[in-house]
Amino acid sequence: MKGIILAGGTATRLFPLTTTTSKQLLPVYDRQMIFYPLNVLIKAGVKDILIIVAPEHSGQFLNLLGSIFENYGIRIEFKVQKVPRGLADAFIVGENFIDDDNVTMTLGDNIFEDDFSEQIKNFKSGGLIFAKKVPDPERSGVVKFDDNMKAIEIQEKPKKWLSDYAIPGLYVYDNRVVAAAKEVRPSERGEIEITSLHNWYLKKQELEVAMVNGVWLDAGTFDSLLEASNIVKEKKIYKNFDSIIDKAIKEFSAEFKELAKKRLV
Ligand code: DAU
Repeated sequence: MKGIILAGGTATRLFPLTTTTSKQLLPVYDRQMIFYPLNVLIKAGVKDILIIVAPEHSGQFLNLLGSIFENYGIRIEFKVQKVPRGLADAFIVGENFIDDDNVTMTLGDNIFEDDFSEQIKNFKSGGLIFAKKVPDPERSGVVKFDDNMKAIEIQEKPKKWLSDYAIPGLYVYDNRVVAAAKEVRPSERGEIEITSLHNWYLKKQELEVAMVNGVWLDAGTFDSLLEASNIVKEKKIYKNFDSIIDKAIKEFSAEFKELAKKRLV
C-alpha cells in the first residue's frame, strides 16, 4: 500500500494566513495540520508516502518533513502540482510513485478522530471510501444509500438535497485508479473530480462505503481551523498519534532548539 497526501491548492479562503505558508502547514493545536493525515497513513503501517504540494511553499514542506522520519523507515517523497486541476489529479501526478501498488489518498486538510488502520491494512481490491452524517452535506461529495445501507448514488456538492452523508477526504483504491483518473473529464467547475472515481468503482459494484466514527473536520476556513484546534485539545486527539510521529516531532524540535542556541536558525 502506498500513501498520498494531497496538500496543494491556494487556500484563498484563508488569506492572509496562506500568503506566507501553505494551509496544511498552519498549526492545529500543537502541530502542523499535515501531521494529522500523516498519522492516518503511518498508523496503518504505510511506509511510502508521496506529498503533493503547490509550487509556492514547497520548500517549507521539505524543511519540515524532508528527513524527519528517516530513522523510522518511512520514506517521504514530494511532487509539485503546478495547477490545482482537481483531486483525481493526485493519481496522475502520483502515477510513477504508485507504480503497481494500491494507494490510500488523504487530503492534507482533513482531520479525523477515528482510526482507519485495520481497514487500510485489510484492503484487497476495488475502492473503499467513507461516509459521515453531517448537517451541511452540500459542501462535500455526497453518497446516497438504499434501505440496506448499500451506496446507490454519489454526487459532488449536489445542488438538490441527495442525502445527509458526506464523503470525507480519505480514499483507498486499487491500482486501476491511475487509469481511471486519466479518463475523468473536467466537471462544470473545471476540476477532475474524485467523485468520478468513486462512481467508476460504484458502477462496477466494487465500491465499499464505510462509516466514519468520531469527529471529522475539514480545516479550510477561519472558523473550522479554530474549531479544529479546540476539538483536538478537548478530545485529546493529539494523544492518539502513532508513537513514531511523536518521537520524530520531539527529535526535530530538540534539534532546532540546539541550533537556536548556537544562533544557527
Ligand atoms: O473534504 C472532503 C471533500 O473534499 C470531499 O467531500 C469532496 O468530494 C472533494 O471534492 C473535496 O471537496 P473540497 O471542495 O473540500 O475540495 P478542495 O478544493 O477544498 O480541496 C481539498 C484539498 O485538496 C485542499 O486542501 C486543497 C487540496 N487540493 C485541491 C485541489 C482541487 C490540491 O492539493 N490540489 C487540487 O487540485
